[in-house]
Amino acid sequence: MPKIIPVPTFDFVIFGGTGDLTLRKLLPALYHRFLDGQIPSDSQIIAVARSDLSVESYRGRAKKALRQYVKPDNLKGDAEAGFHKMLHYVRLDAAGEKQDWSELQAMLAPGRVRVFYLATSPDLFGPICDNLAGNGLNGDDARVVLEKPIGRDLESARAINDEVGRCFPEARTFRIDHFLGKETVQNLLALRFANTIFERLWNADVIDHVQITVAETVGVEGRGGYYDHSGALRDMVQNHLLQLLCLLAMEQPVSLEADAVRDEKLKVLRSLRPHEAYEVPALTVRGQYTAGAVNGQPVPGYLADLGHNDSTIETFVAIKAELNSRRWAGVPFYLRTGKRLPQKVSEIVVQFRSLPFSIFPKEHTLAANKLIIRLQPEEGMRLEMMTKEPGPGGLQLRPTGLDISYEKTFGGRFPDAYERLLMDTVRGNSTLFMRRDEVEAAWQWVSPIMDAWASRADRPRPYAAGSWGPTAAIALIERDGRTWHEDLDGQG
Ligand code: BG6
Repeated sequence: MPKIIPVPTFDFVIFGGTGDLTLRKLLPALYHRFLDGQIPSDSQIIAVARSDLSVESYRGRAKKALRQYVKPDNLKGDAEAGFHKMLHYVRLDAAGEKQDWSELQAMLAPGRVRVFYLATSPDLFGPICDNLAGNGLNGDDARVVLEKPIGRDLESARAINDEVGRCFPEARTFRIDHFLGKETVQNLLALRFANTIFERLWNADVIDHVQITVAETVGVEGRGGYYDHSGALRDMVQNHLLQLLCLLAMEQPVSLEADAVRDEKLKVLRSLRPHEAYEVPALTVRGQYTAGAVNGQPVPGYLADLGHNDSTIETFVAIKAELNSRRWAGVPFYLRTGKRLPQKVSEIVVQFRSLPFSIFPKEHTLAANKLIIRLQPEEGMRLEMMTKEPGPGGLQLRPTGLDISYEKTFGGRFPDAYERLLMDTVRGNSTLFMRRDEVEAAWQWVSPIMDAWASRADRPRPYAAGSWGPTAAIALIERDGRTWHEDLDGQG
């Protein structure tokens, strides 16, 4: 494992401190960094929420959350005790008017890095930032972290960015997309720019198409209130899938400086060809899960999960995207994501062109080479190529894989995406965060799709939970003579 470099002592304030994200992701991430000795023990983690809770009862909740979300091997008595000592709780309606911020103000130590993490609904980002500024808490040492989604369309994203921008400069505004913190996503930079073999192949001359799949087995998991105003396009495509596409498709940045990387990602987003309204039905598929079975267990449909009779919100999306650029001219990027699919798997498949001419007998079907980048689970990469099967019987060929498994190569525990990202907010490194113009360019590209869906009378196509989405998603790619990569059995 690489050497851990401690961060400076900090005050980390979480608005939405009793929420699911805080308990499930943020506190476990901070705990792991503390356990590894990266966080100085005189730092403070201050949860802020409206509930009337004592510090002791908040620590009790945090303890329960750690027990639930941290592996038992990593729950070490001393570390747990030290971590709980750093935890504080302040009751405050942070978005409300004329609230008394003095308790929070008094707790913040002068001269320290201050991170204000807004784990709240995006409509509270502006009011909370206004209150932070009104109470003099937006000085040079303060950073604000905005959890996705930033708004629900281009207009609302711009309004939020304007409101936040009046209180915090862009350099101290960290828009989080936790996919960027995943080890395997960071590895895309290494794969592309730390190796010589791929760059020459990374273009339309050699690549036939790219697939990006982010499949989940879970349903809406008690987040129905949020999800039913969002849907898969806003929740996953506008941010996570487009960020993956950017890292895969971008030109080499001049350095790893935040703006150098983000400039290149922005160019990709701006080069995405917008879908015309009339093309949307042919180039996109939206679906909604109905009752079915996942991992052998019966599960209810989306409407039953919500307890509603009706909803036109999509829980599955497939999109054919194209980039207006010399490098990628004519190379489709097929994106798909959905809930209640048969497997939790996120992967990128780069499919190379077929062999233009073969010397092998006609009965040999030569599969085109594929580079499969497995983001989760079983993180790794596999390069599929044709190989001669050993033994008699002439030249028998079959596709085999050159594999790199993270687990076999590196062993150990891979830090959760939030661990890296939270430490980056303390360090002030925004390379793995979204800049304002990126977020807005991404909304701009999804807008015509949202508009076209909203203007049509048809509904999301039903798909049974536990299937790979509506059959129309298969047709979307098969119409082009291609198929989804579904050899998702751990072999790549
Ligand atoms: C979140 C979405 O951003 O990402 C969720 O809001 C989704 O709906 C989650 O389940 C997936 O993240 P991960 O890290 O589990 O792949």
